[in-house]
Amino acid sequence: MFPWAPALVALLALVAVYLSFPGLFRQRRPQEPPLDKGFIPWLGHTLAFRKNMLEFLKRMRAKHGEVFTLQLGGQYVTYVMDPLSFGSILRESRKKLDFREYAQELVLKVFGYQPTEKNNQMIHTASARYLMGDGLEELNGALLESLSLVLLGPGGSRPDNQGWQEDGLFHFCYNIVFKAGFLSLFGSTKDKEQALLQAEEMFVHFRRFDLLFPRFVYSLLRPQEWLDVNRLQQLFHRMLSVEDKEGVSVWLNYMLQQLREEGRTQAMQDKFNFMMLWASQGNTGPTSFWALLFLLKHPWALQEVRREAKEVLGEPRLEENQCFTFKFSALKQTPVLDSVMEETLRLGATPTLLRVVQEDYTLTMSNGRQYLIRRGDKIALFPYLSVHMDPDIHPEPDRFKYDRFLNPNGSRKVDFYKQGRKIHHYSMPWGFGINICPGRFFALSEMKLFILLMVTYFDLELIDANIAVPPLDPERWGFGTSQPTYDVPFRYRLKPLQ
Ligand code: HEM
Repeated sequence: MFPWAPALVALLALVAVYLSFPGLFRQRRPQEPPLDKGFIPWLGHTLAFRKNMLEFLKRMRAKHGEVFTLQLGGQYVTYVMDPLSFGSILRESRKKLDFREYAQELVLKVFGYQPTEKNNQMIHTASARYLMGDGLEELNGALLESLSLVLLGPGGSRPDNQGWQEDGLFHFCYNIVFKAGFLSLFGSTKDKEQALLQAEEMFVHFRRFDLLFPRFVYSLLRPQEWLDVNRLQQLFHRMLSVEDKEGVSVWLNYMLQQLREEGRTQAMQDKFNFMMLWASQGNTGPTSFWALLFLLKHPWALQEVRREAKEVLGEPRLEENQCFTFKFSALKQTPVLDSVMEETLRLGATPTLLRVVQEDYTLTMSNGRQYLIRRGDKIALFPYLSVHMDPDIHPEPDRFKYDRFLNPNGSRKVDFYKQGRKIHHYSMPWGFGINICPGRFFALSEMKLFILLMVTYFDLELIDANIAVPPLDPERWGFGTSQPTYDVPFRYRLKPLQ
């Protein structure tokens, strides 16, 4: 009866598809970067990307060059791979390139936390006051106490904890650094035995969540895992409440006070705590693992770190029932260990740094070429591939060189070059710009303190000296410090008491 009806239905269906999946029919416009939408409508390259982001991005770079736009799950993301061209992105104002929109969606999904306008500023103010400079000195004292507690127990050293103990190095480092960081920032009960038990319980839950995290972010969990994540979220909200705790850090107290003044509910404060637990504990343990593993695999480097530690700390030995003593000024006198940490982060930190384009944007490359990026798209940097592993900037990039960040005279090396030009961002483990990691000074202090205690007070060795350094887990590309694909057995013992 209506011969044009099927055509109309088809047209309406097409309009509906177009409206539900904006960008489905997108074509590259003049002056835009190469556009690669993949073969699957809307999903684009999502599957290959999630399977192994590093290998996928290497292929895309080989195919398209230093700038390209990818379709990933209905979103268009422009990857910029030339670090000499990062400058304009790093300097760009929030009005043009903003990270908050993306971060807000993510923290709501992962932590259930609904940020307000003021949150980011508040976190950075609190961190500048209490996780750096004088504030950090106070926190170092709390960290030393916590590390003593988790490594030696509430009564300090005992003759019976001097024998060799075996563990997986990754499990050991993550467990110890997590518990010490958690107790120092989130406080503990008065009863130290109970505090230790609670910290251990928290670690077990945290690891469960941590293992599910990458697939949770990508919405790839199986139904049982979804339930598990929900259960863990509720549990963290409950367990992290700082009421009835002593020794809660001024950093956290300051932020919780601000939230109360803003009228945020108790439930929202608990979710905020969960977010801060994640930010503060997710990377320090894994990074400490890589640092200790590299030292154990490179005896000369370990010897140099031990020599430096002896110079600044002497050779302290514990007496019975004693806790660790430590001269905090030593943390500022360890260029070799500083280089080890920079090198470890170069090899292990693999974050993706994202910005959402707020208005049509002209990206100017170092060679003067300009690209137009559309409003609503994202710009992504993946410094692990484009900077940390660039053999021009870091010769033999796969190798651990403990002194890569040292000048011949022993000072910190900051001069690195690409194509003969000095490069400012030669390592980017902490992100960049206004949302650069606000905990980076505290993180370094914590990890260095842990490593100095381990090399000073303990004997350490790999069970199998020939074991290979494990590859990085491909599931975690893009999520902070990577984790190993398998653990590495090692043993440790407290050096004999005096
Ligand atoms: C090895 C340890 C750590 C690494 C590698 C690391 C790395 C990072 C990175 C890459 C970002 C995101 C920056 C961006 O998207 O541009 C970040 C954000 C953040 N980090 Fe860290 N971090 C570490 C330890 C810590 C610690 C110990 C704390 C707190 C005590 C902390 C607190 C935060 C917070 C609150 C943010 C969010 C900042 C914002 O939204 O503006 N981090 N970190």
